[in-house]
Amino acid sequence: MIIKTEAEAQAMQEIGHICALVLRKMGEALEPGITTLELDAIGAALLKAEGAVSAPIKCYDFPGHNCISVNEVVAHGIPSERVIAAGDIVNIDVSACKNGFFSDNGRSFAVPPVKSSTRKLLDCCERALARAISVAVAGAPLNCLGREVEKEARRHGFKTIKNLCGHGVGHTLHDDPDSIYNYYEKRDKRLLTAGLVLAIEPFISAGEDFVDELDDGWTLVTPSRSQVVQFEHTVMVREGEEPLILTPR
Ligand code: CO
Ligand code: CO
Repeated sequence: MIIKTEAEAQAMQEIGHICALVLRKMGEALEPGITTLELDAIGAALLKAEGAVSAPIKCYDFPGHNCISVNEVVAHGIPSERVIAAGDIVNIDVSACKNGFFSDNGRSFAVPPVKSSTRKLLDCCERALARAISVAVAGAPLNCLGREVEKEARRHGFKTIKNLCGHGVGHTLHDDPDSIYNYYEKRDKRLLTAGLVLAIEPFISAGEDFVDELDDGWTLVTPSRSQVVQFEHTVMVREGEEPLILTPR
């Protein structure tokens, strides 16, 4: 969506803060022994308390309130009886809706002990997101975001997932513009405008550069089950300055 009024800006800030809060609280509850279903229930209760509803359920009938993806699962992991263990990498992605406005954020967490290679991958992805955000200014080409993500990944010998993209968000979870690539797509001629709301979400991989969907119709994995991490923020593009992060940590 493109935010045009103060009321829209406030509504988007409200749902953004709710998504950020739920992500933080779920991250704090993450520890060995908890199941992803229990973790999802914590998120669901918080969303309810805030008067928000899960976007994956509302928009896609997803079998869970939040996507929780463990280790070999890259994204769209379905909450289950899977028990979190020490050393796991867990991606929690929280998107929700309140009063007709949607927001989306996520991040990968490492459950200690954390291998140095995992730490490197996480740091790279977080920096890739920060770099992409820093260039999302009104008038800039949309494809400069993917260029920053790709540069940061390559600098560390990592890859970006080519078939997972960021997206517009606002009136629905996947709003215009679609396909915010996590690599430099030179044929993409779209430009950023003030007020545009984007969910920017680099996926950085230690191995392959695409994901496959499992037979359940949701779960995404890489063919060789290599490590992949994601960080995501919803931001509002502004004129002459960096975008406003609507899902501040
Ligand atoms: Co998300
Ligand atoms: Co998203």
